[in-house]
Amino acid sequence: MAPASLRRAARQAPPADARTALAAARTLRDPIRLFEWQIQQRTRGSDRRRTATAALAQMVATSEEFYELYRNSQQQRRELERNQRRLDRLARQTLRASDLERARIAHQIHDTAAQSMVSAFRFLDTARAFVATHPGESIDGYLESSSDRLVTAIKEVRAVLADLVPSGLEELGLAQAIRHRMQSLAAESGIEMTLEGILPRLDDWVEQALYGMSAEALTNAVRHSHAKTIRTELKIIKSRAVITVHDDGHGFDPAAAERRRAGGGLGLLGITRQARWLGGAASVRSRVGSGTIVRISIPIARHAGTRAGYSGAGTEDDRSAKDGESKA
Ligand SMILES: Nc1ncnc2c1ncn2[C@@H]1O[C@H](COP(=O)(O)OP(=O)(O)OP(=O)(O)O)[C@@H](O)[C@H]1O
Ligand SMILES: [Mg+2]
Repeated sequence: MAPASLRRAARQAPPADARTALAAARTLRDPIRLFEWQIQQRTRGSDRRRTATAALAQMVATSEEFYELYRNSQQQRRELERNQRRLDRLARQTLRASDLERARIAHQIHDTAAQSMVSAFRFLDTARAFVATHPGESIDGYLESSSDRLVTAIKEVRAVLADLVPSGLEELGLAQAIRHRMQSLAAESGIEMTLEGILPRLDDWVEQALYGMSAEALTNAVRHSHAKTIRTELKIIKSRAVITVHDDGHGFDPAAAERRRAGGGLGLLGITRQARWLGGAASVRSRVGSGTIVRISIPIARHAGTRAGYSGAGTEDDRSAKDGESKA
């Protein structure tokens, strides 16, 4: 009886012609040739097994690659979702910030210019009533008081405008706009102010934001620190635009101010948030009795846009600021 492998081979073999069938029958009948035939079949079988193993290995490798691709795409999807959530959060914060900003401007106008104008109106009203009851008597005092209130109101409106549309920012750049701001704060407060350094021109809105942050740090120093001098530095450090506002006032505890924030004060929070939105950071270093340093730093490359050159370039002041300190 032929072994099972022989029977299987016979079943699978293509139909042969008579001569081939006869040769095969002779082969199977001769024990030596039968033995050779079996060796030949075994060799073929192990070749097939090797090919099948290689194909299987290829399939395993391909499935692993697919799995890796799947994992990467899952990771990218999660990253996209995270970014989407971050964007939503930023959009909400931006809306809230612009609401707060509107409220701040409204309060500023209400508490300053509007009060001064109401007061000027009252003096004029009183003067009118006085003229009616005391014909021929002088009303110069009332007019003078009214005029004083109006001059104050004009200054206060200008201060609000300076916050909203910093003078010279677009044409002359950040250094020049900060210089203007420091000059008017120095004139109002009597504090000595200096400005050092320059920065490359950045996108309009970024310069506007940096101006706002610097102006807030300066206003804080004037309002809260009782400083004798305030120094602002503009520098490039490791491809970052860095602005520091340094006062030699009595300092404060930033952590305590942060805890008290529920009671008002949004300026420092605004500086920190805006710096973060610009991909940078802000820090406040201060100790009671040893002054305050507000440091704002943002990456330049991300915000340089299509602009070239340096802020304030072309003005004598900024060229001298490059070399050292210049009075604001
Ligand atoms: N340079 C500084 N020197 C001393 N104290 C400071 C200085 N900057 C800030 N502070 C303290 O930190 C607090 C918080 O400042 P922040 O700018 O957040 O609020 P604010 O100036 O009080 O109000 P807002 O800026 O909203 O008009 C201030 O009230 C003040 O006590
Ligand atoms: Mg403030």
